[in-house]
Amino acid sequence: MADQYIMALDQGTTSTRAILFDADGKAVATAQKELPQIFKQPGWVEHDAEIIWDHARQVMAEVVIQANVPPYKVAGIGLTNQRETTVIWDRFTGEPIAPAVVWQSKQSDAIAESLKAAGLTDFVYEKTGLWIDAYFSATKIMWLLDNVPGARDRAEAGDLLFGTIDSWLLYKLTNGAVHATDYSNASRTMLFNIHTLTWDTELLEKFNIPASMLPDVKDSSGLFGYTADYAFFGIQVPIAGIAGDQQAALFGHKAFTPGDVKNTFGTGSFIVMNTGTDISTSQHGLLTTIGYSLNGEVTYALEGSVFIAGAAIQWLRDGLELINSAKETADLATLAREQHPEPIFLVPAFTGLGAPYWDQNTRGAMFGLTRATSKGDVVRATLESLAYQTRDVLEAMEQDTNLKVANLVIDGGAAANDYLHQFQADLINVPVRRPEQLETTALGAAYLAGLGVGFWENLAQLPDVTASDIKQPMADRQAEMKSAYQGWHRAVKAARMFPLQ
Ligand code: G3P
Repeated sequence: MADQYIMALDQGTTSTRAILFDADGKAVATAQKELPQIFKQPGWVEHDAEIIWDHARQVMAEVVIQANVPPYKVAGIGLTNQRETTVIWDRFTGEPIAPAVVWQSKQSDAIAESLKAAGLTDFVYEKTGLWIDAYFSATKIMWLLDNVPGARDRAEAGDLLFGTIDSWLLYKLTNGAVHATDYSNASRTMLFNIHTLTWDTELLEKFNIPASMLPDVKDSSGLFGYTADYAFFGIQVPIAGIAGDQQAALFGHKAFTPGDVKNTFGTGSFIVMNTGTDISTSQHGLLTTIGYSLNGEVTYALEGSVFIAGAAIQWLRDGLELINSAKETADLATLAREQHPEPIFLVPAFTGLGAPYWDQNTRGAMFGLTRATSKGDVVRATLESLAYQTRDVLEAMEQDTNLKVANLVIDGGAAANDYLHQFQADLINVPVRRPEQLETTALGAAYLAGLGVGFWENLAQLPDVTASDIKQPMADRQAEMKSAYQGWHRAVKAARMFPLQ
């Protein structure tokens, strides 16, 4: 295996990337293409599925050329993807019937509301672990079948296929030979019964979705199919791992033990806890989901989705124009803290509040302003809001599982921020680990594919790339953190008193 490689194809919301990993788990090359976002109406977000496929093929070729690696040395491909995003295409021609409906998109909001109004909330939660929302694939499929002319008839005739982005790419990579997904992606559709591990016929009936559209569901690691001639230099490479991006990051962190938690600070924050082979339900607004499945054994997870994290830092840059780049924020916040120890609070509920509040109607607010409040104070409050939201979710996880969070591992863009890193450790009073290798999502997909083709034999053989920067909580800051966290809750409470009209 010494001169062989595993390729991870990471199809995210804003870009498509191929990363080549060697046997030591080192990323030797990366190729990336930005993905155009389509905003046809307020609240709608769509992607062109053909462009996604086109970009995937391009970055796969680019990455081996860049690394000067002959394509036949790629021993396996792992797919990881933006989750929930929904594509429907023609079984015979492979043509999508409409743009992909992205996870963030709100066009099926009314459908989600009608399902709730029909009293299905608990029924759906008990089967799928998900709280009814337009976020998940099911209402997006319903919307497409109802709104694309002729779609429902074609679906009922068995001519259409549904897939999340992993299934779509797998179908294209194999030239239509394979229509499949893995358990982690299936668990985000709101159609998959996480207890019986099958598509749920009662839900399909209630949602009026033909079962013939759905992909086969397989282990996250193992053979899915081979690249077709036109996909990758005419070479048949096994596609041997698939996981949704947040679950792939959990796997990439080697968070294999119940109680292990990771937080990816991306546009939003996705905090995922391994809960082992038993299903943990939530009384505190968390989702129960499938982390991954290996050798026929499913590992479950709890997930807290926070809508705004890195997006708040973008807002400082592009909306308020307070900073030129995210890199400035750590120094600005450190200085502000020295100058004005008393914090101000930002509740970044720009699109409502996600876990554990699930309040669509609250909007953002700032508290504690004085004449002395500076740009640095606002920057500091913004960074700290990411940490407060994370603590809210971690506390919900501890309450739901009775497991104590003993440490947290972070990745994603804002994880590079040293101020946030230390503040997060102080606030939750446990060590926070930041791997040097921040490509954890792609690494997780590579691990799954590597295990799937025997590139690595078992979990113990996965290379250790956990060299990390660990911030320990500072004991002399704990009194301050206690009162700051109380301040945050007062701020959230106050913000919620001014909902959208
Ligand atoms: O659930 C949506 C999530 O998978 C999107 O992740 O990194 O593509 O924004 P990302």
